[in-house]
Amino acid sequence: MFQIYRKLNLKSINKVRYLSIQVKELKLKDYATSNEIENCLELTSRDLNVDSLKTNELLVKLIASPINPADINIIQGKYGILPKSLPSIVGNEGLFQVVKSNDDLNEFKPGDWVLPNQIGWGTWRSSVIDSKRSFIKLPNLTNLNKEACSTIAVNPVTALIMLKSFKDLKPNDTVIQNGANSAVGQAVNQLCKLMNVNVVNIVRKRPDLQQQNDLIDFLHQFGAKYIFTEDDLRKQVFTDLWQTIPKPKLALNCVGGKPTVDMIRHLDYDSTIVTYGGMSRQPLSFNIGDFIFKDLKSVGFWVSRWRQKNPIEYRKTIDYICELISKGQFKHPKCEQFSLNDYKKAFKRYQTPFINSKILFVE
Ligand SMILES: NC(=O)c1ccc[n+]([C@@H]2O[C@H](COP(=O)([O-])OP(=O)(O)OC[C@H]3O[C@@H](n4cnc5c(N)ncnc54)[C@H](OP(=O)(O)O)[C@@H]3O)[C@@H](O)[C@H]2O)c1
Repeated sequence: MFQIYRKLNLKSINKVRYLSIQVKELKLKDYATSNEIENCLELTSRDLNVDSLKTNELLVKLIASPINPADINIIQGKYGILPKSLPSIVGNEGLFQVVKSNDDLNEFKPGDWVLPNQIGWGTWRSSVIDSKRSFIKLPNLTNLNKEACSTIAVNPVTALIMLKSFKDLKPNDTVIQNGANSAVGQAVNQLCKLMNVNVVNIVRKRPDLQQQNDLIDFLHQFGAKYIFTEDDLRKQVFTDLWQTIPKPKLALNCVGGKPTVDMIRHLDYDSTIVTYGGMSRQPLSFNIGDFIFKDLKSVGFWVSRWRQKNPIEYRKTIDYICELISKGQFKHPKCEQFSLNDYKKAFKRYQTPFINSKILFVE
């Protein structure tokens, strides 16, 4: 019935016969000190006895798990939460399918799609047996697909909670964001469209006009209307823009560094900048005049901490985004698929500049 059973082995130990499958696990051996992150990982395999599950245990298999920037930070030992010890299975987000269930309440059944419920659980593995408490079951809706559901747990939730938590946005208000083509940025555009909120999108300039136009076309698919490069932030085009739409009350900062200082200059009075990423690896600085005279507020947001504090709201948010996906109102990021066996190729591809794709491990 499931692909996993093709890999079933019948083993015999002490004359007791049991069923086992071979499990692949991508482990972090040591923190990376250079960009050659794939050399710090190793793919191991082991037999897993799947004959009998303890009460409330599930056997799940990987459907898809992305490489996110946070995974790279973990591999480099520079993240808010790190493995307790190494080697450790890594991967922070992923979609799994229940293959076998010993759930005494029968909530989890074979075929269900589930997400890990714990941060740092380790998603880059082909199968595992774990307690049902380790999983969140996705709603059984039409049109859910593996690309959308394997990338739902981090970026769309981050986008939605940032839009809801820091300003009471009303229709025709404006949000400005950098890193606008990131998966978070794509989600911000789609959610703001549903809220009738304008989004001013700031992206990095591409090396040539063709690539710049491709990026603009790419963002149009997510409903983006106002798209500018970091260089434009200092140009007349913005003075003209503020004649058309209101100045932003909320800025979402994925990047840091000087272009963020330029972005902050465009904020309205009594506005808030939320920093959730630091892709430029540059610090965040402010014009003191903006801070004092505009009553600017600067806050950080980390979805991992938020979800630990708000587990019920987190599940509701996942369900809400699943509904949007099911209704065709939320598109997943562009994805490229690699098997765990090809993890070195996957990381090489991840490091390609301007790829605009999520790299997914699939089995
Ligand atoms: N705080 C939280 O709770 C939270 C939650 C989710 C994500 N995040 C963070 O949000 C960021 C985006 O995550 P994602 O998964 O959406 O990313 P993603 O889809 O992989 O996209 C990466 C983005 O970063 C930009 N970028 C890469 N290098 C850059 C540089 N040197 N300077 C400026 N921009 C650069 C890319 O722009 P180009 O196309 O121009 O390269 C792209 O827009 C990451 O920092 C991630 O850790 C934080």
